[in-house]
Amino acid sequence: MEQTHNEILDDIAYILYTREEIQARVVELGAAISRDYAGLNPVLIGVLRGVFMFMADLARAITIPVNIDFIGITRYGPSTRTQGVVRFTKDLDINISGRHVLFVEDVIDTGLSLRYILRALKAREPASLKVCALFNKSRSRLFSLQADYIGFDGLDRFVVGYGLDYDEQYRHLPFVGVLKEEVITRLRLPPGAQTE
Ligand code: IMP
Ligand code: MG
Repeated sequence: MEQTHNEILDDIAYILYTREEIQARVVELGAAISRDYAGLNPVLIGVLRGVFMFMADLARAITIPVNIDFIGITRYGPSTRTQGVVRFTKDLDINISGRHVLFVEDVIDTGLSLRYILRALKAREPASLKVCALFNKSRSRLFSLQADYIGFDGLDRFVVGYGLDYDEQYRHLPFVGVLKEEVITRLRLPPGAQTE
């Protein structure tokens, strides 16, 4: 069923982070990265599609030369989010061997995707490999992974907007918000393939 923009906004229970709050934090992250990676010409790597808005803003907040590339992954398997297999749907185009790599992630939740991706990136022998996540949900972590740069720590609920989706909706919203309970029930995802 097609929804108008107003109906989309009507699905949001409340805004957790405004556009301005996100921008201010992204500018701080960009400044820290520019300082730490000065002279290193790092490669920023993001996972499609959730990271597209964060990557676009972060890149513009970085003042040193960088390269940017994206990978795509799909998580298959049992509907429980603790299990499943991760598979690449789009590989890197840039050769990262010997390069300083900063992996950029929208949300680290269980850490399953991150663990898989970091292993795959390490196998290509970058000079260094660090992680920048906009949101960190440390309570739901299954693997002890720590990001080096975190936008907002301790997120404890499911959010949409600023690239993040529920059932491929809401990615275009300029803020990060929480969906109304009835929307989640209405759109309840069928078990099976889930794309990041
Ligand atoms: P993990 O493999 O469990 O760490 O899952 C991380 C991925 O799940 C993120 O890259 C997002 O695509 C998705 N995700 C986790 N939490 C949220 C959320 O609150 N809203 C939307 N997507 C989420
Ligand atoms: Mg998703």
